[in-house]
Amino acid sequence: MRRLLPVTDQTAAAPGTEHPGGAAREWSLDELAEAYAYPADTGSGGAWLRANMVSSLDGAAQHEGRSQPISTATDMRIFGTLRALADVVVVGAETVRLEGYRPARARDAFAGRRAAAGQGPAPAIAVVSASLELDFSLPLFTAPLVPTLVITGAGAPSDRLAAARQAGARVVIAGDANAVDPARAVRELAGLGFRRLLTEGGPRMLGQFVAAGVLDELCLTLSPVLTSGDAQRIVGGPGLAEPERFRLAGLLEEAGFLFARYRRI
Ligand SMILES: NC(=O)c1ccc[n+]([C@@H]2O[C@H](COP(=O)([O-])OP(=O)(O)OC[C@H]3O[C@@H](n4cnc5c(N)ncnc54)[C@H](OP(=O)(O)O)[C@@H]3O)[C@@H](O)[C@H]2O)c1
Repeated sequence: MRRLLPVTDQTAAAPGTEHPGGAAREWSLDELAEAYAYPADTGSGGAWLRANMVSSLDGAAQHEGRSQPISTATDMRIFGTLRALADVVVVGAETVRLEGYRPARARDAFAGRRAAAGQGPAPAIAVVSASLELDFSLPLFTAPLVPTLVITGAGAPSDRLAAARQAGARVVIAGDANAVDPARAVRELAGLGFRRLLTEGGPRMLGQFVAAGVLDELCLTLSPVLTSGDAQRIVGGPGLAEPERFRLAGLLEEAGFLFARYRRI
């Protein structure tokens, strides 16, 4: 992998070489963790929300219902690093259902870093759902290292709420009716001590967080494949009245995959 941006002494092309970013080499997990570190100051709201998404060249967020066909081993390495840096991973219920989500695991490679940052052994997973039509017998709810959170509205079905609690999930109410208010969800999570937030989508949930103006950062993998078809884009839902500008904060490259980091201006 090569770092293309920001340009540093180490990444600038050596005289006489054609390689901006220097020669490609495998990065250690420590180097990846440094490159993707959360800002020390998580902002006035107390929390920093970053999304990690992968897209094909033609904008598809999945192929045949899964993101794996447009991903790569290095993308999954970054995916794992981003998880290891997060306090909580916020994810939409449909992604949990389709991708068969499991609890996050503790990884030796990040144990020291997490301990030093005052974090538990693994991030919590927080599932955003209105219907609570989730299989609460799955290990995601019954056997996580840290309790899985279920973020829903005050009008969620009471029997499903009871099932979630009985399975061991921590219920967070972040909406007056069934729907979750994204800004309130971020506030509630910050209030519970979750400040380094990561969302892994999916597009419909992410679209609502974008529309609510609470997304601080987008880690976007651009995969060098075309898929055509009618797959969703990485962010879905109603269009914004005004396009929201982000600035490029970092860019890595490997084997034609671009790993970009954009921050809200
Ligand atoms: N390319 C990528 O990086 C990436 C990342 C993630 C997922 N994906 C792909 O995206 C697809 C799934 O994404 P999706 O957009 O269809 O679904 P999604 O965003 O994962 O989940 C949608 C569901 O989340 C819940 N939800 C969303 N917003 C809510 C709100 N404001 N209040 C309450 N509940 C809310 C609802 O759950 P209930 O129905 O339970 O009420 C809704 O049906 C899969 O094919 C997956 O492979 C791709």
